[in-house]
Amino acid sequence: MIEMDKVVKRYKDVIALDHFSFLAGQNEIIGLLGPNGCGKTTAINCMLSLLKFDQGTINIFGEPVNPNNNKTKRRIGIVPQELAIFEKLNVVENIDFYCGLYVNDRRKRKQLVDEAIDFVGLEKYRKFVPKQLSGGLKRRLNIACGIAHKPDILFLDEPTVAVDAQSRNFILEGVKKMKAEGTTVIYTTHYLEEAEDLCDSFVIMDNGRNIAQGTLDDLQKSISTTESITVKFIAEDSTLVNRLKEIPHVNQVIKTKDKYNIQFEKNHNNLSNLIRFIDENSLTYSEIKSEQPSLSNIFLELTGKELRD
Ligand SMILES: Nc1ncnc2c1ncn2[C@@H]1O[C@H](COP(=O)(O)OP(=O)(O)OP(=O)(O)O)[C@@H](O)[C@H]1O
Ligand SMILES: [Mg+2]
Repeated sequence: MIEMDKVVKRYKDVIALDHFSFLAGQNEIIGLLGPNGCGKTTAINCMLSLLKFDQGTINIFGEPVNPNNNKTKRRIGIVPQELAIFEKLNVVENIDFYCGLYVNDRRKRKQLVDEAIDFVGLEKYRKFVPKQLSGGLKRRLNIACGIAHKPDILFLDEPTVAVDAQSRNFILEGVKKMKAEGTTVIYTTHYLEEAEDLCDSFVIMDNGRNIAQGTLDDLQKSISTTESITVKFIAEDSTLVNRLKEIPHVNQVIKTKDKYNIQFEKNHNNLSNLIRFIDENSLTYSEIKSEQPSLSNIFLELTGKELRD
């Protein structure tokens, strides 16, 4: 559906995309993940041909992107990072305006607008103007505007930032429904747990580059950490992080609030080595959990940075 090959985009002396390549197949949800300023929105704007790029190629539906290709544009939906809704128009009018950019037939449009309202759960707010809506409800309206014309590819740029739990669930369930109906979704977020739950595969971006792309399984195989053990100790002291690092095969130890996350490289006896260390040091713990590396662990190992979760 989307092939982006070695795209370079510069803003004067900032390289926002540095030979960025990316592939998206049909009917999948792809998470575009990376820290502030890594180039996610720029990549989306290049794919939408809202921005000119300096080098490389982008094909969508097998054709090079072109701002004048209206046939292709009709098949694409965008929910931008910044709200793009009209303050003077109510919920129905806002959605109808965006849908009208792609669909001329008024009767068909009315049906699509009603479906979009139903999809994001805004039935009670049909006549409300944006200033009467909460932040989360405005986000849902922004989404309805992007999806009403039933695109084959949907770009969602940080749709759940500053959104309450109920609206967040609505948005995530809506994205899953779009996929079930056959849409390819490109989803950018800072929330790695959310991405892990929602997306079929991931692109890890850093400094305008594609650091890794694949399913969680592919990404887990691409790093040296193979096991992540979290322990909650009952008594601890400030030397514990460094002492835990002395256990054989430990890659990294991260302390978060009251828990220690210990990342091990491939080895069969990690848990027993840890338990032996605990016994030998007369430590006590209330919780211990062994898992495969999470997206957060993968992100940290690949980029050397933690992404806010
Ligand atoms: N119009 C612009 N003019 C100059 N520099 C820009 C412009 N837009 C983006 N940049 C720079 O390009 C880089 C990539 O920005 P971009 O907005 O694509 O990042 P992002 O990954 O979407 O970040 P965020 O998570 O904050 O939304 C950043 O260094 C940013 O400062
Ligand atoms: Mg952005």
